[in-house]
Amino acid sequence: MGLISPDVASRLKPDFIATVAKIYREMCNLQAGQNVLIISDARTPDYIVAVFQGVAQSMSAQAVRIECAVPVGGATYQPGSRWPSMLAGAADQADVIIDMAVGYSQFIVNAIKRGCRVVCPGDGIGGSFLDDVLIRTVLHSDIHAIRRHADRVAERFSRASRCEVFTGPQQDRFEIDLTGLDAVAGDGFLWDPDKKDWKSSWVFLPPAQPGVLIPKGRGSGVINVDGTLLYHPIYHEKPDTPIRLSFRDGRLVDIGGGSVLAGKLANWLDALGEEGARNGPVHLNIGINPNASLTQSQEWERVYGSITCGMGDLSLLGVLLGEGDFQLNRSAVHWDWTVLHPKIVLDGETVLERGKVLIE
Ligand SMILES: [Fe+2]
Repeated sequence: MGLISPDVASRLKPDFIATVAKIYREMCNLQAGQNVLIISDARTPDYIVAVFQGVAQSMSAQAVRIECAVPVGGATYQPGSRWPSMLAGAADQADVIIDMAVGYSQFIVNAIKRGCRVVCPGDGIGGSFLDDVLIRTVLHSDIHAIRRHADRVAERFSRASRCEVFTGPQQDRFEIDLTGLDAVAGDGFLWDPDKKDWKSSWVFLPPAQPGVLIPKGRGSGVINVDGTLLYHPIYHEKPDTPIRLSFRDGRLVDIGGGSVLAGKLANWLDALGEEGARNGPVHLNIGINPNASLTQSQEWERVYGSITCGMGDLSLLGVLLGEGDFQLNRSAVHWDWTVLHPKIVLDGETVLERGKVLIE
């Protein structure tokens, strides 16, 4: 369950048109004549999809949309989903893909390698109140201040060699080696309007969650999860009391804590019977958007002052965002957990405490 009920409407919010125009102009640098492919499914209301199409057309771009079937099992299982071959054909012609359905997929990777750029509003899931989320976190936020802050946080993580995370009433310790890892800003900008240059080829909205991709075998200690858990089947749940996750060398070795959710998570992983699903963290990110909330949207990964880590598959993202010589984990699932107010220490310097990011 989400903590906060979003503003769910059954009609088009006029403010959403300005929101999407801001995304295309300031974050995507969309140009007249470009081919925009919008991929969605029934999880996202038609009027939201139509605005992405109509605003692109109003900027003299060619915009078409394809609606897929809802992937079986939802977001967690999307890394293992199979997609219609027609999608790959359309993606091959696209300059920009607005992805509200697919997320991690080889045909998306192939399009990006060809030069296409991809924006994932709702992290490749879309969602029923994506309009409300983006109005709050893009239109009503200073996205350029968030972008510059994300760059500074990423730069600090890139310099760090050791990250310690302290959570729970006992301030249990988790440590991860960051040696040799380059952080990414995770700010949603394909285009950097300050440098007047391209910044990224695959971005998620809303902004921002600067952080690192983590190779296999790193991370030991205990994390007390008190924020969102994204797992089977499609829901983003918050435990009543913290879930206690114990890691050894990049592998989840024990699930404790008194909440019902801790038991459900353990049972789900047992039933999956897939070793790769217990590997992680595969990414570690800090939320820095003051207007992001704990809802059933992926916006919870950007809640200011929180930390989110992913588990399971990261193989495709790693190919695009700089796998380098490191091995990133493969799995048919990707799941996530969030801690709302962790203390984070980089090389002995506290950079996040009591919900305040101390990297200015
Ligand atoms: Fe994740």
